[in-house]
Amino acid sequence: MRKRFDGNLNWSEVTPKAQWLNRRSLLAGAGALMVAGGAQARIAAAASDFSTDAAPNTLEEITRYNNFYEFGTGKEDPANNSAGFMPDPWSVKIDGMVDRPGDYALDDILGGATLEERIYRFRCVEAWSMVIPWVGFELATLLNRVGVQPGAKFVAFETVVRPEQMPGQRSRLLDWPYREGLRLDEAMHPLTILATGLYGEALPNQNGAPIRLVVPWKYGFKSIKSIVRIHLTDTMPATTWNMLNAREYGFYSNVNPGVDHPRWSQASERRVGGGLFAKRVDTQMFNGYGEHVAALYAGQDLTRDY
Ligand code: MTE
Repeated sequence: MRKRFDGNLNWSEVTPKAQWLNRRSLLAGAGALMVAGGAQARIAAAASDFSTDAAPNTLEEITRYNNFYEFGTGKEDPANNSAGFMPDPWSVKIDGMVDRPGDYALDDILGGATLEERIYRFRCVEAWSMVIPWVGFELATLLNRVGVQPGAKFVAFETVVRPEQMPGQRSRLLDWPYREGLRLDEAMHPLTILATGLYGEALPNQNGAPIRLVVPWKYGFKSIKSIVRIHLTDTMPATTWNMLNAREYGFYSNVNPGVDHPRWSQASERRVGGGLFAKRVDTQMFNGYGEHVAALYAGQDLTRDY
């Protein structure tokens, strides 16, 4: 069930710790300004049609229970170890099969984008989930601005490498940089966003400041954080978790309750914040976004293309 955000939700009820004051004035008009990564960007007046009407997790939950291995493997490590990370100034290299490659300052990227608020279900491969009110814009608008060349078939993403600011990168736990990829049609889908904020504020470091991907119908590890490179290519790119363990993590990684992870079931999930004894809920195919994205995979065997 999805609906347009109607402005009647009482945010102080759903997020007692939220610091995003003045939401109404923030969203009141197209001229409203929002600070994101040091940049001033416009935020659209209304939230997206794609938003879920499920109650969002609290800011506390969203910012204290994270996966961001650059800051450690514990769920609280990103919150505890990311204060020294500097997301400003920031630029993103966009290269490969594009008409206008270059190093784009975040301000330039945001200057050509209309920020929207979208409340997405977010489901991690470890079978926990959250509902997060992101602020971001469609990746497609950026790709269209740089001009994707006809032969391009995939988009590859890379996270910044800064071991001096990211203690997890001082170990060889993963083959840094963290890498992810999407097929071009997935990347161009309007549900795929680059997020620059949540709860109406700039993205906290632990959530991938200043700019990260959000692909709500895929397992959370596809949603790569702190992006410094977007590369258009005609070959399927290497991705971090697939490189580490191809049997457990495929390229597509669509949320699919019918395909179990080799070490655990993917049929149900636990909403973070629901309490220790909260009932698990059935996981939905494509995380509930099937009506929008199932057609992308027509004719594909998703038990093979997991
Ligand atoms: N991006 C980078 N660079 N490094 C990571 O370790 N973890 C992924 C994804 N993006 C990760 C990453 C995983 S496993 C998940 S579930 C989500 O980020 C978590 O996003 P959140 O902490 O904002 O909820």
